[in-house]
Amino acid sequence: MVGHRGAMGHCPENTMASFERGLELGADWIELDVHLSADGALVVIHDETLDRTTNGHGLVREHTLAELKALDAGDGQPIPTLDQVLVWAHSRNAIVDIEIKNAPLYYEGIEEAVVACLNQHDMTEEVIVISFDHASVARVKELEPRVATGVLYACRPTDAGIGLARAAGADAVLPHWAYVTPSDVAAAHAAGLSVAPGSLNKTEVLRQLIASGVDAIGTNHPDILRDVLASAANAARSKDEPSSDKETSRRGNVSRSNTSATGGSK
Ligand code: G3P
Ligand code: CA
Repeated sequence: MVGHRGAMGHCPENTMASFERGLELGADWIELDVHLSADGALVVIHDETLDRTTNGHGLVREHTLAELKALDAGDGQPIPTLDQVLVWAHSRNAIVDIEIKNAPLYYEGIEEAVVACLNQHDMTEEVIVISFDHASVARVKELEPRVATGVLYACRPTDAGIGLARAAGADAVLPHWAYVTPSDVAAAHAAGLSVAPGSLNKTEVLRQLIASGVDAIGTNHPDILRDVLASAANAARSKDEPSSDKETSRRGNVSRSNTSATGGSK
């Protein structure tokens, strides 16, 4: 379970409150987006502009860290730095899914900054770094092969994304959910790749993705995904059990589902 921008269905996106809420709702990974400030700090915000999610205006890259920290990113929450999130994630034993937002504006040196930040916080192997900019993904892998990486895309490649991943040296493919098919998931797995589509919130689509065998799913509502996962697990167990055992097991499943639904796989 990947909490998209934390738990953006519940809290202002990409804020510490959203990340904390994501964990509370059962997310195993916390997804966030990074840009560089005018003075080279890694700041956590989705857009390259400030206008949609904060009370500021203009480009992130034209503001210093001090200026960005003074803004309200929703409910009085400041824009976090990656530094700050990694300190928090280390203390909470959380995996961070870092999306480098290297488009439509390109940040010189953002990959070096991300890798340095990971090393500084001893989080090199506790994250996945992803991007729609596959050259950026390749650069991260080149700088630090221990960092798990993934390629984002919104299409259905002819080879299940294997070529895109290979070209960037990535460990995972992150297709838009609409392009996920069971046969493509199986092909990616056979090639040693993980499949982690995001982000979506509709129960029926979540069910289909789970059935297709994906490894992780991004969502704005980890609580909804948690419930869908629990019912899928119950249904699978119930199908596998001999009929005489079903009544007892159904009762037992209530507690097992509750346990797994609160992040037991972290
Ligand atoms: O998980 C990938 C997803 O976050 C990419 O889309 O626009 O929400 O950053 P976006
Ligand atoms: Ca993102």
